[in-house]
Amino acid sequence: MARVTPTIREDARLIAEEMAGALAPLQGTRLLVTGVGGFLCSYLLDTVAALNDIAFERPCKLVAMDNFKSGLPERIEHLGGRKDIQFLQHDVTLPFPVEGPFEWIVHGAGIASPTFYRRFPLETIDVNVAGLRNCLDLTREGTQGVLSMSTSEIYGDPDPKSVPTSEDYRGFVSCTGPRACYDESKRLGETLCVAYHRLYGIPVKMIRPFNVYGPGQRLDDRRILPDLMAGALAGGPLVLLSDGKATRAFCYIRDEIRGMLYALMTAPAGEAYNVGNDRTEVTIRQLAEVVCKVARPQPLTVELRRSEEADYLTDNPQRRCPDITKLTACTPWRPQVDLEEGVARTLRSYREEAGKESAWR
Ligand SMILES: NC(=O)c1ccc[n+]([C@@H]2O[C@H](COP(=O)([O-])OP(=O)(O)OC[C@H]3O[C@@H](n4cnc5c(N)ncnc54)[C@H](O)[C@@H]3O)[C@@H](O)[C@H]2O)c1
Repeated sequence: MARVTPTIREDARLIAEEMAGALAPLQGTRLLVTGVGGFLCSYLLDTVAALNDIAFERPCKLVAMDNFKSGLPERIEHLGGRKDIQFLQHDVTLPFPVEGPFEWIVHGAGIASPTFYRRFPLETIDVNVAGLRNCLDLTREGTQGVLSMSTSEIYGDPDPKSVPTSEDYRGFVSCTGPRACYDESKRLGETLCVAYHRLYGIPVKMIRPFNVYGPGQRLDDRRILPDLMAGALAGGPLVLLSDGKATRAFCYIRDEIRGMLYALMTAPAGEAYNVGNDRTEVTIRQLAEVVCKVARPQPLTVELRRSEEADYLTDNPQRRCPDITKLTACTPWRPQVDLEEGVARTLRSYREEAGKESAWR
């Protein structure tokens, strides 16, 4: 279950209205987006489609790529038949079936859920390194911006003195643990971007998202917010597969997409930027309580259980919160959506999808 909903359409329209001026350079250009069947880049696709519909005289022409390793075609099927979007079902680690030039490239393909990347470690490494390199090799003289999706996981389990974490923190990461296929290949991906920038002047920016959540994420993705939403939709209980004490700062997807787009359009190239919400750090237990609160009058309980996956908590960071000074200093971007509002919008969207919205309003 992951289809477009009225809440997703509203988010895309809100971003398009706010950023039409900042995104004007996209008009009449070509944009390649990889990973469009996934959580973040399906939202990005909806946003550019909304820009073409409401703001641009000359459309931005999109080439949208995914092999649906973890993403879902039904999430973007409502965009089928549009003249401004060409869909390619393709593995980005193989030679591309499309030629440049592209003025803009966003490499969002990846295997982001820990449960999925532990199952597919080699594919995870390949998409983060070989897939990224294929994207970088598509750049030409006319390329104006490339965005590579790195991750806050490159910091590993940070020293408490370095939380909130800024971009110059070098990380405390295992290169052999069960998370290493993801963390270390994202680190190498950043190295690759910087090498291309230094050697060829490619205008590439790396962003490090911090725990993005919101409508459209697969309910069976096995990340914490979808797990809690699945529990709420089933009438409870909300199951935590930990003691609930680790913290995360959760960033609503609309804010993440805005941050991605501001970084792509205006941030200096050859640099990495944290994109997250620095005002929403909560424990996982507190997050479950926020879900209970927004689900009212539906009564929900929270239960602690042990995961059946032996490695579920191995190398799990204890505390995570971004320092976002670097991106806010060079762009107008600031997170706007607080945790309760974002969780309420997320639950609303899942209920819209399940046709249950009216039952709990
Ligand atoms: N969501 C987050 O909180 C978060 C946090 C940090 C970093 N990121 C990064 O942002 C990017 C997008 O994350 P997401 O949450 O949307 O992930 P997602 O898993 O929902 O989507 C990723 C998409 O990439 C596709 N894909 C995977 N391998 C591919 C390949 N070889 N060729 C073509 N397509 C392929 C998948 O099918 C999926 O549709 C990823 O690179 C992820 O690592 C996300």
